Amino acid sequence: MKKHIALLPGDGIGPEIMAAAKKVITAISEREQIQLTTSEHDIGGSAIDNHGAPLPESTINACEQSDAILLGAVGGPKWADSTLRPEQGLLQIRKHFNLYANLRPVAIFDALLHASPLKESIVTNSDLMIVRELTGGLYFGQPSERRDGGNSVVDSLTYTRQEMVRIIDTAFKTALARSKKLTSVDKANVLESSRMWREIVEEVSQNYPEVDVHHELVDAAAMKLITNPTSFDVIVTENLFGDILSDEASVITGSLGVLPSASLNENDFGLYEPIHGSAPDIAGTNKANPIGMILSVAMMLKYSFGLHEPAKNIEDAVDRVLNDGYVTTDLKIEDATVLSTTEMTEKIISYLK
Ligand code: IPM
Ligand code: MN
Repeated sequence: MKKHIALLPGDGIGPEIMAAAKKVITAISEREQIQLTTSEHDIGGSAIDNHGAPLPESTINACEQSDAILLGAVGGPKWADSTLRPEQGLLQIRKHFNLYANLRPVAIFDALLHASPLKESIVTNSDLMIVRELTGGLYFGQPSERRDGGNSVVDSLTYTRQEMVRIIDTAFKTALARSKKLTSVDKANVLESSRMWREIVEEVSQNYPEVDVHHELVDAAAMKLITNPTSFDVIVTENLFGDILSDEASVITGSLGVLPSASLNENDFGLYEPIHGSAPDIAGTNKANPIGMILSVAMMLKYSFGLHEPAKNIEDAVDRVLNDGYVTTDLKIEDATVLSTTEMTEKIISYLK
């Protein structure tokens, strides 16, 4: 098997964790008789600096020529006042490739039970999957502008039926492959878009009689997510709710730094990225946790290339490294050995089979 991966390191800690991903990709290629080649391209703030645009044509072209995209992180204080925003690069690439299905698994690592600020009794056995709609809603709705000389403002929450159906269908399929339990999160007591969402969930559920589906209002879901996380398995929700709930859910695992994600289109072409941001405060210090990035490589192998064994190999290596008491600075665990980004990466590679 031969696959090409476009690497988009981005800003802040992006380049450091991308270097980690590259080492893991090389290690997997050597072990598994698969030829994985890579090329690096600019996105976000670094692309604004080098090309005058957060998502240059050259990056789009390179991604179009690739079998998958791996992304580090975008954004930082350097571009806070710039009219071109690094985050636009991320939103544009999601839209360009129609990556509407964002899968964000949140599973507790046994070794990190004490790293969570939540009680061990609450987080034990947490294992959920957030299915977030990624190319619609408030993130993309028009108009989105200041009005009346800056005295009023509008953002638009728009969805078509088809946009709702396809993500809800992905969620039912995801639930079928897991414990057949789906929670749809909305704000149907206030928003018309949520009432339509709820209707469509009911319609699509007719095709999946085996899946047990519940509706939950987003405010209540936000509370339940950290008071009773094991009551959830698959969660499906629109773009902005999914953004907020997935950061909240990361608290369960003790660190945003360990969580991967996949963003897929209808052909399973995908962009893979850790859910944490560019962490400009620790950029360049070799302190970033590479695990979210490395687990994103595992998701890529699984979802885009169907390489389930090599993906499992990476996940198991991460699990065993944590079990053996190695962490990065973001994980506060007593008696653990704190490693740098590069040391953690080498450690994980040394645990690969
Ligand atoms: C995420 C991020 C992005 C989002 C930002 C950087 C635009 O927070 O991937 O969750 O809001 O989608
Ligand atoms: Mn986010």
